[in-house]
Amino acid sequence: MKQTEHKPVLLDAAMAGLAIRPDGVYVDATFGRGGHSAAILSCLGPGGRLLAFDKDPEAGDAARATLGDDPRFSFHRASFARLGEVLAEADLAGRVDGILMDLGVSSPQLDAARRGFSFSREGPLDMRMDPSAGESAAEWLAVAGHGEIARVLKRYGEEPLAGRIAGAIVDARERAPIETTARLAEIIASAVPARVAAGSRIHPATRSFQALRIHINRELEDLSEALAQCLPALAPGGRLVVISFHSLEDRIVKRFMRDAAHPEPPPLPMAEPTPPALRLIGKPHRAGADEIAENPRARSAILRVAERTAGEGT
Ligand SMILES: C[S@@+](CC[C@H](N)C(=O)[O-])C[C@H]1O[C@@H](n2cnc3c(N)ncnc32)[C@H](O)[C@@H]1O
Repeated sequence: MKQTEHKPVLLDAAMAGLAIRPDGVYVDATFGRGGHSAAILSCLGPGGRLLAFDKDPEAGDAARATLGDDPRFSFHRASFARLGEVLAEADLAGRVDGILMDLGVSSPQLDAARRGFSFSREGPLDMRMDPSAGESAAEWLAVAGHGEIARVLKRYGEEPLAGRIAGAIVDARERAPIETTARLAEIIASAVPARVAAGSRIHPATRSFQALRIHINRELEDLSEALAQCLPALAPGGRLVVISFHSLEDRIVKRFMRDAAHPEPPPLPMAEPTPPALRLIGKPHRAGADEIAENPRARSAILRVAERTAGEGT
């Protein structure tokens, strides 16, 4: 395993959750810089297999450079929302022993000013995990209506001043296009009353940047689509391990696992009940004080594990 700049979050808990079989088939749905992938490969024998996904071309470069020579490993530059399709092409549907999703942005994405994810680093206002597809944040903010911007900030950032910030963005773009992270951060900061900013522990742009990133990358839509594809992908006894970083993601994961573990009773008393498709394993896991001290990103991480039953439910 080569040293990477990205520290895998909740590594031990993720590995325990996956309960790796040396000859098993595993999916790392969010390769990043391959910290979790390297740990999975270190538990696999020569007959094991790991398929990794990431939509970021720089993650692909890292995968080729660090693990490209490993015959057990393949990298797929695609959204994890295409997991079902890729596994079907590889004839692996229903044969996967574990899927790991470590959601959100990676540290290298946040740290690179040129990627435009961070309000504290001046760079082009891009925010796409895959810069070759879709609209950048600057392109979207140039055309979106006031109501649309406010809705995104409220829904994905839970920003209480969404309407006011959207208004400031629309006014500012009349004067000049909003093309850099620094300009957007300034516009947002100027829309937040000084007493509100003074009473807050976070930068005034934190929630808005999170919201824009989630919207631009369709993060919650991709997550819901991918989770649904995990059930037909997993073999009975296969594990699903998901690490979320904010409540919107975690709510989706929690509901998905709960609904698959406890299906609704049938509407008609005579109908066959749907068997559970998942069994919940353990309690949701959070990082301890030591890991948080070493890796502050772990502070908001929450890991959930479920196991595929032999049940039919999908
Ligand atoms: C938190 S990082 C993963 C870090 C990784 N576990 C490691 O140890 O280096 C999340 C990664 O998931 C990728 N990602 C996020 N959403 C994705 C999606 N819908 N499809 C594929 N990759 C995605 C991001 O590009 C990012 O590289």
